[in-house]
Amino acid sequence: MLRKARVSDIKQIQELINAFARQDLMLPRSLNELYEGIRDFWVAQERGKIIGCCALHISWADLAEIKSLAVRKEQQKKGIGQELVQACLQEAMALGARKVFVLTYKPAYFQAFGFKKVQHDDLPHKVWAECINCPKFPNCQEIALLKTL
Ligand SMILES: CC(C)(COP(=O)(O)OP(=O)(O)OC[C@H]1O[C@@H](n2cnc3c(N)ncnc32)[C@H](O)[C@@H]1OP(=O)(O)O)[C@@H](O)C(=O)NCCC(=O)NCCS
Repeated sequence: MLRKARVSDIKQIQELINAFARQDLMLPRSLNELYEGIRDFWVAQERGKIIGCCALHISWADLAEIKSLAVRKEQQKKGIGQELVQACLQEAMALGARKVFVLTYKPAYFQAFGFKKVQHDDLPHKVWAECINCPKFPNCQEIALLKTL
């Protein structure tokens, strides 16, 4: 089942994300960031347990970001990631955000949704303001991709 996140999901969302972050597959998220950004999050739930999450964050007038996509190892390759990304793209459309970007270590996964690689400089400066708080800053290995809706 796919739905928007609730405050009671946040600890499970953090465990999911930070387990992958410890393997250097994605960036870690603090509880503070997650509670403050809760309205960005979609979750996939199975038997009361959070098995996947993905966030859509509005950056600017016509720009949104997909972030923190994760699906539990045992539940991968069943299309749950795809459903989460589609939910975020539909939400972006409903909100009137014409462009969606993602910063990822998995460009091929997002290219399958029609995202195209762009240079970091092609995204507005505001996007990079957050980077100063990133544990990887300034050695960013993430690839930027953009999709026009
Ligand atoms: C990236 C990630 C979210 C994908 O989640 P997922 O639920 O496995 O994604 P999907 O099931 O939609 O697609 C995964 C693959 O399974 C395939 N697949 C989907 N449904 C399938 C099915 N029923 N049978 C067989 N294969 C299937 C997809 O075609 C896709 O193939 P690909 O590996 O060639 O791209 C997941 O691997 C993950 O959490 N990774 C760790 C964290 C991470 O890297 N996050 C991304 C950072 S931006």
